[in-house]
Amino acid sequence: MSGNFVHFIYRVLSGSRCSISGVVGSFIGCLILLHLSSNFNHKDEGDRGVQVQLRLTHHPQFHELQEVEEENIKIPPPKGKRSSRAAKQRRRRTNPLIDEFLDEFLDENSQLKHIFFPGRKWAMGPLKDAQNESYYYYPGRIWLDTDGNPIQAHGGGILYDKNSRTYYWYGEYKDGPTYHNKKGAARVDIIGVGCYSSKDLRTWKNEGIVLAAEETNETHDLHKSNVLERPKVVYNDKTGKYVMWMHIDDANYTKAATGVAISDTPNGPFDYLGSQRPHGCESRDMTIFKDDDGTAYIIYSSEHNNELHIGPLTEDYLNVTSVMRRIFVGQRREAPALFKHQGTYYMITSGCTGWAPNEALAHAAESILGPWETMGNPSMGGNKVFRLTTFFAQSTFVLPLPGFPGSFIFMADRWNPADLRDSRYLWLPLIVGGPADQPLEYTFEFPLWSRVTIYWHRKWRLPQGWTGLK
Ligand code: GAL
Repeated sequence: MSGNFVHFIYRVLSGSRCSISGVVGSFIGCLILLHLSSNFNHKDEGDRGVQVQLRLTHHPQFHELQEVEEENIKIPPPKGKRSSRAAKQRRRRTNPLIDEFLDEFLDENSQLKHIFFPGRKWAMGPLKDAQNESYYYYPGRIWLDTDGNPIQAHGGGILYDKNSRTYYWYGEYKDGPTYHNKKGAARVDIIGVGCYSSKDLRTWKNEGIVLAAEETNETHDLHKSNVLERPKVVYNDKTGKYVMWMHIDDANYTKAATGVAISDTPNGPFDYLGSQRPHGCESRDMTIFKDDDGTAYIIYSSEHNNELHIGPLTEDYLNVTSVMRRIFVGQRREAPALFKHQGTYYMITSGCTGWAPNEALAHAAESILGPWETMGNPSMGGNKVFRLTTFFAQSTFVLPLPGFPGSFIFMADRWNPADLRDSRYLWLPLIVGGPADQPLEYTFEFPLWSRVTIYWHRKWRLPQGWTGLK
């Protein structure tokens, strides 16, 4: 808070680009912010300095979503020699506490494994009745579909289909054995894109594999020996087609391309149209975002994951256009998840550490093509290691919660590199509200972005009164 105030005063004094009315208006806004500060709860966050914990009392329905849960998980004493994989992962990181945790986390025989990957007896099943415990999300637990099988939709995203008033969750169907490529990285063969449907975002019916692997033709992009990751589906209002974009690669991630598939129905089957390097550039982790005006954008990690590229798709969503902007150059971000609130664009990204988790960052922009500014780590609650590892998970999608402006569901993957099919889903409330508490990259410029916060919960449910779309 005080940081924001100083920042604001600096902006006023620097005088540039501020009209008198803008300054007066902002000053009044600042007084309001000062007043609101009585509702803030300051909390020491170690090396993050003093952090502001926001209480949005004027949104009572968010109260439960914004509860902050702490975790006190003790790291078992070191077991002597680390595996070479753990040692390799370790060299890439710098914080010894996180190293200890992640070595433990990535170790197949870890004593902590059951905390991060609770067994089948703790599985979340489908909803049974409205009063039941089953309304709750338990991030990290096995999540069963209506047939009683674990949901297979990793690196996924959700489409709300207005035609059928149904949510569709698409993701990597990874229910096969995990083995290692030439570089020692864990992988499963392509099986296809899994699709699940729901009316309430909690009970999911398996709609089957809507884009399947190619079993025999080794030159096909979808041959099982390749990689298909992070599929996302958008509906094109003009053509009436459901369009899927996905990361297509070979087992060693050297192809770095995007694939496109289309269908007349949300539950497939999708016809695969082919792959390309968008704008002639490498493309690995990616997502698609459909804006309010119907324009869809692709966002992908490029140039050896050193930067992200963003650009609009053609009207039919089947291709990229010549427009492309490079963002976060040199910052090595991936796993982008884009969303919009009150005309501002937001993005959550992860760092690049393979299947190992790392710190998420939240970014904001007034125009989708940029400039994009980085606001800081949105993770709140858990403990310090939770916050520095995105609760041991990696972003994949952010879903707006209809009827609750400013409330979103943050979807992430807790990868299990020892057995990728057993990777877990973390759905957590993400709230946009209140001023950001981190200094901005582009100094002394308006606007003051809203803070984006992802709240750790061991157990949570959608706001009372949210019963799905009618
Ligand atoms: C991550 C990426 C995942 C997958 C993994 C393979 O960086 O986000 O989608 O590609 O690497 O190691």
